[in-house]
Amino acid sequence: MTTRPNVLPPTPQGIQSAAQALRAGLLVAFPTETVYGLGAHALDAEAVQGIFIAKKRPANDPLIVHIHDLSQLDALVSQIPAVVPLLAARFWAGALTLVMKKSEAVPDVVSAGLDTVAVRMPAHPIALDLLRAADVPVAAPSANLFSRPSPTHHDHVLQDLQGRIDYLIAGGATPIGLESTVLDLTGIPTILRPGAITREMLLDILPRVDVRQAHLKDDQNPTAPGMLEKHYSPDADLILVVGKNRRDALYDLAQQQIATGKRVGLMILAEDVERFAGLDCQQMILGQGGNLAEVAKNLFAAIRFLDQQSVDVILVAHVEDTPSGMGTAILDRLTRAAEGHLIEAN
Ligand code: TXA
Ligand code: MG
Repeated sequence: MTTRPNVLPPTPQGIQSAAQALRAGLLVAFPTETVYGLGAHALDAEAVQGIFIAKKRPANDPLIVHIHDLSQLDALVSQIPAVVPLLAARFWAGALTLVMKKSEAVPDVVSAGLDTVAVRMPAHPIALDLLRAADVPVAAPSANLFSRPSPTHHDHVLQDLQGRIDYLIAGGATPIGLESTVLDLTGIPTILRPGAITREMLLDILPRVDVRQAHLKDDQNPTAPGMLEKHYSPDADLILVVGKNRRDALYDLAQQQIATGKRVGLMILAEDVERFAGLDCQQMILGQGGNLAEVAKNLFAAIRFLDQQSVDVILVAHVEDTPSGMGTAILDRLTRAAEGHLIEAN
């Protein structure tokens, strides 16, 4: 491990160097269309172990394996479910991760000892070029320190992992900004983590799609990976306001917190700028409420920015009345970042 990651440009030479590093068992952070990933050769257990060390990630949280071609699935999965070709034809390359029964070839460290493996074909051209050049499956979680917001720009990767990884491909901002939808195909298809590929979209292809209720408290001992509520946590406390009267409640809450002398960070929609004008606090505009893709893209960067301003508390209201589509994924991330600190204003 080098003390500084070698920052590579997203040029053919940069991608070649990164691919060679992956093949040699080194750690490479790279952009995907969702968030930056921290990659290692998925079939090299020692290399994958390095990911857990660099991220300070607990060993019981399994990784997603990234591929560039459907034919790579045969080596990773013991049996390919019948729906996979249909899902792949529609959503790959893209922000959909599929959980299937794993093959013997996948090291236990990748699957955290489970008998399943999560696989995704990312759509970002740099990620696809890298995977093609490396020509090995690449295990990659989000390239943040454990429990920090996922990195949506290479600067975020440096903030968290400088000195802890070997290479970083600097690809600028990631277009989606929230992690992929995780769909478990080992039983009734079940969304384990909502993302840009929504339940509604999956129902175009699958007759039934269940949704796992996440957000367990730390002490509830998760029965499945990724269910810990503590996640994406800023250093500041984050309070999420939901319900019909959430904007008024958010305003009152901001006023109260400012009055007690707290440094307040506010995340708001563009249409609410006037309503919140005049409050003595740091404000971040997430985007237009009518464009939730924009909100998703800006969300993690806004949380990181407010944290850097050393605010004591970050206040945010949910972005729509009844979450659907991308709003479901945004609410999921906000709820986790709030670690259960939720206020209902009806
Ligand atoms: O968009 C993404 O998915 C990004 C980019 C880099 O591809 N990756 C990502 O990885 O978000 P990570 O490790 O931060 O999140 C992976 C999620 C976790 O919630 C993990 O528990 C779940 O996928 N997961 C991985 N393998 C699993 C398995 N075998 N069964 C159930 N859940 C699994
Ligand atoms: Mg992550």
